[in-house]
Amino acid sequence: MAQDELGCLMRAAAKYRRTAEAARREGIIPYRSEGGKWLPSPYEGNSWCTGGFWPGLMWQLWHLTGDEFFKAEAKRTGRLLTDELRTFTGLHHDVGFMYLLSCGAEARLCGDEQARADTLHAASLLMGRFNPVGFIRAWNGESQKGYAIIDSMMSLPLLCRASRETGDPRFEKVAVIHADTVLREFFRENGSVSHIIEFDPQTGRRVAEHAGQGAFLGSSWSRGQAWGLYGFTLMYMNTGLPRYLNAARRIAGYFIAHIRPDGLCDCDLEQPEETERLDNIAGAIAACALTELATLTDCIEYGRAADRLMEGMLTRCVDWEEDEHLGLLTRCTASYHGDEAGTHTNIVYGDFFFIEALARRAGKNAMLWL
Ligand code: GLY
Repeated sequence: MAQDELGCLMRAAAKYRRTAEAARREGIIPYRSEGGKWLPSPYEGNSWCTGGFWPGLMWQLWHLTGDEFFKAEAKRTGRLLTDELRTFTGLHHDVGFMYLLSCGAEARLCGDEQARADTLHAASLLMGRFNPVGFIRAWNGESQKGYAIIDSMMSLPLLCRASRETGDPRFEKVAVIHADTVLREFFRENGSVSHIIEFDPQTGRRVAEHAGQGAFLGSSWSRGQAWGLYGFTLMYMNTGLPRYLNAARRIAGYFIAHIRPDGLCDCDLEQPEETERLDNIAGAIAACALTELATLTDCIEYGRAADRLMEGMLTRCVDWEEDEHLGLLTRCTASYHGDEAGTHTNIVYGDFFFIEALARRAGKNAMLWL
């Protein structure tokens, strides 16, 4: 099995070695590929929340192959992201995605001091979004002062890393306060989690739930479930606190029960049965998290679920050609209701997690999240 996955990884690296040249020539951070081209994010330029996945993918491929092209491309796009630290006004809670996978990866894999400072800078910006009533503010809109979202669970490792690097416990303590708020306010009886909870920013009182990128209020956006699943797994790895492992296991139980018979993931796990709306990004994130959970818990069910997800994606949704998609994983969907960010197409963070999952299973993962 690991041998097959190593073969797929090397094939993926060879495709990226050819196609990433086009991104370098155009000077962009690719967000998705369509019609044989890389496209930048449709919103907010290089501040868009997913900008770290391209450099993260390049670092993962450099770690795998040692090919200096990937390192140069990771550094080129990482610099575009550190420019955003100075612009500042476009930044948001997703700085974990952006900077752990770019300067954070460079600092860890290459020992670069400026990259280390940039990573701590990003962690300090995330600290600045903490509202002491108990949550990290997600977005900057005037009406969003009380918004906290499940995706932030994936940025908490940036805070834990900053505490480890500096010996200052403040960062991790904020991560724990936010994660405990998510435990208390986002979970439902069946183990699923909400996408957005709105709090009163003055008192911390919960005032509303919002459907966000999911199908309807109270539904279960699959990528949100996957962010919670992987985010709580990483919080357990960072803190050793059993309540976070239990939280990951609750989401895992719900998620696994909703994997489709063909091994793929619906965009919303409660979407109407007649709707054909898939999101393979969710499946790829969950495959990474479940592989990690299987090791942490010795629970064979998690490994089997990760196998089903990988088998589903590998047999049905990988584009090895270059005519339509310059990337790999197809049928990725940004939001259930569809927008410029893409529906049923190749989106770069699907590839990031798909390649991380392959690398984990082949014993080659760079583990950029810690
Ligand atoms: N926070 C990025 C996404 O999942 O769409």
